[in-house]
Amino acid sequence: MKIRSNRWDDHYTRKAREENWLARSVYKLKEIDSKFRILRKGDRVLDLGCYPGSWSQYALKKVGPSGTVIGLDLVAPEGFFYPNFRFLGLDVFDVEPISLKEELGEVDVVLSDLAPSTTGVKNTDSARSMNLAAKAFEIAEAVLRGQGYFVCKVFEGEDMSRFRSLVSSRFGGARLLRPAATRKRSREVYLIGLGAVRSKVLPGNGECHPAGEPEQP
Ligand SMILES: C[S@@+](CC[C@H](N)C(=O)[O-])C[C@H]1O[C@@H](n2cnc3c(N)ncnc32)[C@H](O)[C@@H]1O
Repeated sequence: MKIRSNRWDDHYTRKAREENWLARSVYKLKEIDSKFRILRKGDRVLDLGCYPGSWSQYALKKVGPSGTVIGLDLVAPEGFFYPNFRFLGLDVFDVEPISLKEELGEVDVVLSDLAPSTTGVKNTDSARSMNLAAKAFEIAEAVLRGQGYFVCKVFEGEDMSRFRSLVSSRFGGARLLRPAATRKRSREVYLIGLGAVRSKVLPGNGECHPAGEPEQP
């Protein structure tokens, strides 16, 4: 499948078409990856909200034949057949993180470009985006190996700084980036959880710490 042309095409859309990427959003992940060195050969990657497939396409290129990409979305990428790509056609809110971990095993990287259908009402859209981001984080906590990376789209809103602190408290640190390919009118930013995911096992009593969900916006 190729990007269809229309009168709103911008520089990144034309470039993506020329370079055979499935969406212009690939340039956001490329920028994040070149700044933070997220994806490596042999990695296992979970790509949440993978349709139409440009992030999975890029991740497959970076991880090479020894790596694996698992894409999850409500919609399946079209004409997307790679031996090391697996698609899960699911609503992310129906995913039980521990069951997903049992099914997939650990992964090195969780990407989330999950985006809600927008209403144009700022608070509604950022609340929906935050719900998706919180779910992605819950999944990341369950499936990431100890030194994994988490990349997550969030619309800027009042819960952003709380979510950033939460991610930061569970990883070695959290950075915010607004890639150059982000459309001017968009309020999206990417939060990157870097380094070690702190153990979910509390020292001493061996109990599991519940996933640190932020309050619902
Ligand atoms: C911006 S697009 C992702 C673009 C993709 N990263 C790419 O480069 O091709 C956001 C995706 O999130 C998916 N999405 C939104 N809500 C979802 C949900 N509840 N469960 C699964 N996928 C969802 C949408 O179907 C949509 O394909």
